[in-house]
Amino acid sequence: MKTYKVGIIGATGMVGQRFTTLLENHPWFTVTALAASSRSAGKTYKEAVGSRWAMKTAMPSKMADMIIMDAESDIEKIASMVDFVFCAVNMKKDEIKALEEKYAKMECPVISNNSAHRHTPDVPMVIPEINDDHIEIIEAQRKRLGTKRGFIAVKSNCSLQSYVPALYPLDADFGVEDALVCTYQAISGAGKTFETFPEIVDNVIPYIGGEEEKSEVEPLKIWGKIEGDKIVSASKPHFTAQCLRVPVSDGHMAAVFVRFKNKPTKEQILEHWATFSGAAQKLELPSAPKQFLHYFTEDNLPQTKLQRDLEGGMAVSIGRLREDTQFDYKFVCLSHNTLRGAAGGGVLLAELLAAKGYFD
Ligand SMILES: NC(=O)c1ccc[n+]([C@@H]2O[C@H](COP(=O)([O-])OP(=O)(O)OC[C@H]3O[C@@H](n4cnc5c(N)ncnc54)[C@H](OP(=O)(O)O)[C@@H]3O)[C@@H](O)[C@H]2O)c1
Repeated sequence: MKTYKVGIIGATGMVGQRFTTLLENHPWFTVTALAASSRSAGKTYKEAVGSRWAMKTAMPSKMADMIIMDAESDIEKIASMVDFVFCAVNMKKDEIKALEEKYAKMECPVISNNSAHRHTPDVPMVIPEINDDHIEIIEAQRKRLGTKRGFIAVKSNCSLQSYVPALYPLDADFGVEDALVCTYQAISGAGKTFETFPEIVDNVIPYIGGEEEKSEVEPLKIWGKIEGDKIVSASKPHFTAQCLRVPVSDGHMAAVFVRFKNKPTKEQILEHWATFSGAAQKLELPSAPKQFLHYFTEDNLPQTKLQRDLEGGMAVSIGRLREDTQFDYKFVCLSHNTLRGAAGGGVLLAELLAAKGYFD
């Protein structure tokens, strides 16, 4: 496999830090540029991050002394140093949209963790096991942008990375009609640690700005289809969500209630989960979990702390599947929000695009 030079835009943040650890020894991708705001530009990565380092492993030594570039004013230089960039920045939506388009127009593909472009109709929002075919819209996007190589591809919100993978494999045979979801989300999802978010200790906060809308709407784009030069969202399943912030460092749990068109048996659901795989497994992408969906039969599993790191934090853990009195079934599921839900999902998407020749 060919190797590629990559940049991390927003390298000093929570997701950016996660990218550095995932890319430290990546077989296909080598980090050659790190960028953040003008506050960090000109400092070494080590100096710029300082006490904000939130990963459980040490800062990659190869990156610690790299000089941070300015994500906005050094675009041309960064684009000349890399084959593509990962982007995870905390800026206003309009600013992120403009920033990502500038990189794409410099013929530098952008793999984004930001929400700004998730609803741009010719920007694919991909979970590689589910809707890998959506990357074909990139040709239409390149036409709109007037680029040969440059494009933007995004990953979806972290909140849905457990329940969408759990529900999707059941849809073709049984028709998922309605899903009610309550999420219990980790503080790293807000770019925080217990040191920087002391008010979460011994507490639950029943509001995460914008999260419920993302949790209800984004699945429909993933379920959507390419029609002409855009991706048209599906009209079903109907999702309703409540998203809570809980005192957990990493890992988003979801409690799910689901109604089907044709109610399956419990055994049929378990069999569909056990046998589900997609392009990530078929192409044997380096970051793909061997088994995407793991079902636990113990009543007290999955637990955030015990299962979030399963298969490098890239697998989804499911448990407690049982019939419900108002819906057909209920269950709980879990995924790691900064691995599968953010940087890991971004790396997996980039691997899919690399394997399909989109960075050549
Ligand atoms: N955390 C998660 O689990 C998660 C999951 C999915 C998606 N996301 C998304 O990923 C993005 C980053 O999230 P995060 O949690 O990593 O945020 P974060 O920890 O607050 O980090 C934000 C990053 O953005 C940079 N930045 C801020 N203003 C900038 C500017 N004007 N120009 C260039 N860079 C700028 C910061 O650089 P400085 O250090 O120089 O300020 C830092 O590198 C957000 O869009 C978020 O919604 C996060």
